[in-house]
Amino acid sequence: MRVVAINGSPRKDWNTATLLQHALDGAASAGAETRMVHLYDLAFAGCHSCFACKRKGNTCGGLCAIKDDLRPVLEDIIASDAVVVGSPIYFSDVSGETRSFLERLLFPNISYDDHEAPAPLPHPLRAAWVFTMNCPEEFGDRIGYVAMFRGLANLLRIIGPGPRVMGNVEAPGGPEILAAWDTYQFSDYSKYETAWLPEEQKRKHREELFPQECREAFEMGARLTTPV
Ligand SMILES: Cc1cc2nc3c(=O)[nH]c(=O)nc-3n(C[C@H](O)[C@H](O)[C@H](O)COP(=O)(O)O)c2cc1C
Repeated sequence: MRVVAINGSPRKDWNTATLLQHALDGAASAGAETRMVHLYDLAFAGCHSCFACKRKGNTCGGLCAIKDDLRPVLEDIIASDAVVVGSPIYFSDVSGETRSFLERLLFPNISYDDHEAPAPLPHPLRAAWVFTMNCPEEFGDRIGYVAMFRGLANLLRIIGPGPRVMGNVEAPGGPEILAAWDTYQFSDYSKYETAWLPEEQKRKHREELFPQECREAFEMGARLTTPV
């Protein structure tokens, strides 16, 4: 059993990476071998639209044909049993690197012959998402973040087990979502312009809710090791 975490934040030890590490610790506690990949360490781009993975008789087997720093990571994920992808929310979406990663992971696993065909991977993968964002939950709800998370979870079904029914993220074995709202953003709030979300509110969240979110990440990581 092997679980890979993908950190789509440029920061290696802040909110996203911390929650991902707890997810990996949870997976390790259940016996998994784990690995963290920091996307911002890698030189890669999104899909080049070369369509090598759509050619008749191609032998890609669900692996993107582009040879760059992401290729060995994609090979490792495909050989693993589960992947947990973490991203900060940037302008109401995942970070640019996370988006490029998703294109490269997922497009080779979609068939233009049959959109609902299982991915041509050696085996399906369990998957989960970690999202972290500055805004409080009430605000994110109002501007459609929960629907965005569900759409992104649905995308990970492409490499997952079971039917690829659009909009059915709650189906058994489907990707779980851990959303961490109202994150603490700087080590010293006094140096930044933060009148909208003042430090007292942030610190309260950091001290009271973040530890709980870390525990949830740990449990989610452990669940990723259960067979599909
Ligand atoms: C370029 C940029 C864009 C951002 N856009 C949003 C946003 O649209 N909504 C939001 O809630 N937070 C936004 N944030 C805040 C981050 O999502 C938040 O601080 C996140 O927890 C950072 O993750 P990290 O601590 O792992 O780096 C943005 C931050 C940056 C740097």
